[in-house]
Amino acid sequence: MQPKGESTVRILAIGDIMGRAGRECLEIGLQEAKNQFMPDIIIANGENASGGFGITEKVLQQFLQDSGIHVITTGNHWADKKEIYTYKSKYRELLVPANMYNVEETREGFVVKESSSGCRYAVINLLGRVFMKGENRCPFLTLDRVLQQIPPAVKVRVVDFHAETSSEKQALAQYAVGRVSLFYGTHTHCPTADERIFAEKTGFVTDLGMTGAYDSVIGIETEHSLRRFLDQPSKKFEPSKKDPWFCFLVADVDQATGHCRHVARFRWKMSDMNQVGDSTT
Ligand SMILES: [Fe+2]
Ligand SMILES: [Fe+2]
Repeated sequence: MQPKGESTVRILAIGDIMGRAGRECLEIGLQEAKNQFMPDIIIANGENASGGFGITEKVLQQFLQDSGIHVITTGNHWADKKEIYTYKSKYRELLVPANMYNVEETREGFVVKESSSGCRYAVINLLGRVFMKGENRCPFLTLDRVLQQIPPAVKVRVVDFHAETSSEKQALAQYAVGRVSLFYGTHTHCPTADERIFAEKTGFVTDLGMTGAYDSVIGIETEHSLRRFLDQPSKKFEPSKKDPWFCFLVADVDQATGHCRHVARFRWKMSDMNQVGDSTT
């Protein structure tokens, strides 16, 4: 990772944090990442943070207050913990996908904030339609509408597109080129090794991968998942605790233009906290 330039803002983005193993992994890994990279803005997806399904207010507060995460995005599991209906309006830092069928207000899908370094930025949360449950509204047209609501002076713009297919993620990213600074996918729980910068403007990776237990089936205990695939009766469907990894992306964005200058992907294995894989673009 190159040193941060004077006019750049540094963003650290984390995908789906899966259950207790993911939260514990985050606690250790994020502190180390803060020391190493000194990010100005930290964004994470919390849709699986509490027991693998949804997010409780207690966990949300831990993320915002203890971990120092600035914006929490979500996805198709946003409402799995029903208490979210009672507390979500209290937290502008908590986003639910702007175009999801069971989300009424587009405003909940984005937020404009200011970093402690004085940089105004926007975060947008959208959901895919391909292989996703429900009649979700068009993410392309919703992105257009959301961008119209963000003041032109806010150049630094980040999108978490929570979607199943690589093609839909890459299509929306290409649609957004030059209009957003950083665009990444979440939801599959599998990191992709394709980070790059489109048109020297928009940083991109198809999926950030989860922060959680990788000896599993996308974070779920293998035995529980296998039973479902084999049509065997099983009441349990719980997150695995085995072999947690902290996966994240660091991006530097020019504050004046909103263009992405640098993007790097990391995955840290928690058992030894050694950096076992990273790449730099
Ligand atoms: Fe997820
Ligand atoms: Fe999801």
